[in-house]
Amino acid sequence: MNGWFLYIGRDSGEIMRRIAWGITGGGQHLAECLKAMSEISRGAKVTTFISRAGEEVLRMYGLDDAIGAVSPGGYLEEIILEREQGYSYPKAGRFMLGKYQMLIVAPATSNTVAKIASGIADGLVSNAAALANKAGVPVYLLPTDLFGEAESRMPYFVDRALCGDCVACPPREACPEGALGDQIDLLLCKGCGICADLCPKGAIGGGLMKVEARALDRENISRLRGFPGFHILERPLDMLRII
Ligand SMILES: Cc1cc2nc3c(=O)[nH]c(=O)nc-3n(C[C@H](O)[C@H](O)[C@H](O)COP(=O)(O)O)c2cc1C
Repeated sequence: MNGWFLYIGRDSGEIMRRIAWGITGGGQHLAECLKAMSEISRGAKVTTFISRAGEEVLRMYGLDDAIGAVSPGGYLEEIILEREQGYSYPKAGRFMLGKYQMLIVAPATSNTVAKIASGIADGLVSNAAALANKAGVPVYLLPTDLFGEAESRMPYFVDRALCGDCVACPPREACPEGALGDQIDLLLCKGCGICADLCPKGAIGGGLMKVEARALDRENISRLRGFPGFHILERPLDMLRII
């Protein structure tokens, strides 16, 4: 056991694991990842590194508050936002200092997988992966586009075929973010779902979408499998297994 990776909990005296978690802008698996993080954070300190797209997508699915329970703040339990980290990502230097036992990137978008597989480290999460790998810290990735065809839950949208263009539109009037026009402005939407409940035509929902993984994305995942220190997870439950 690598004693230098372990953290002796201040209050309980228990040995705590220290895990770094990267969230990128993938909707696929996102809710399951949050559940796994919540489970894992009961016995570990989790620092969450969130890409710009990750931050937006979490908000669209109404999941941004859930991260606060996983990484409540304090050293090694912070939420680190790419938006606030400049361009050189000094916080990723923690991997070189042996602060974390592992890095989990879940969900890992095709974009982030492609960058990591190509040695590009110009984003917070791709930089964390590069430094973790250089420091000998194992990197586990749960890619969104692993299998040929998968189902992914979409954020809320207006089905224009069902919309009655009502003069008084209860969802539009009630939306706390002012996000409803002919469509939902997803950069304003916080995924609360009030609109879906209020629409008299049932025109607003999330729904499942079929996503076909590109050969290019699958190839990048295969390349990563071949590099020492990187491990590909196939389904969200695998995250619990590695811990
Ligand atoms: C609602 C929503 C869901 C998305 N889901 C995925 C996804 O599952 N997989 C993916 O590769 N990209 C997805 N994207 C696109 C990424 O967010 C986009 O490529 C982004 O640039 C990724 O940046 P990042 O890898 O730095 O987080 C989604 C975008 C939106 C708006």
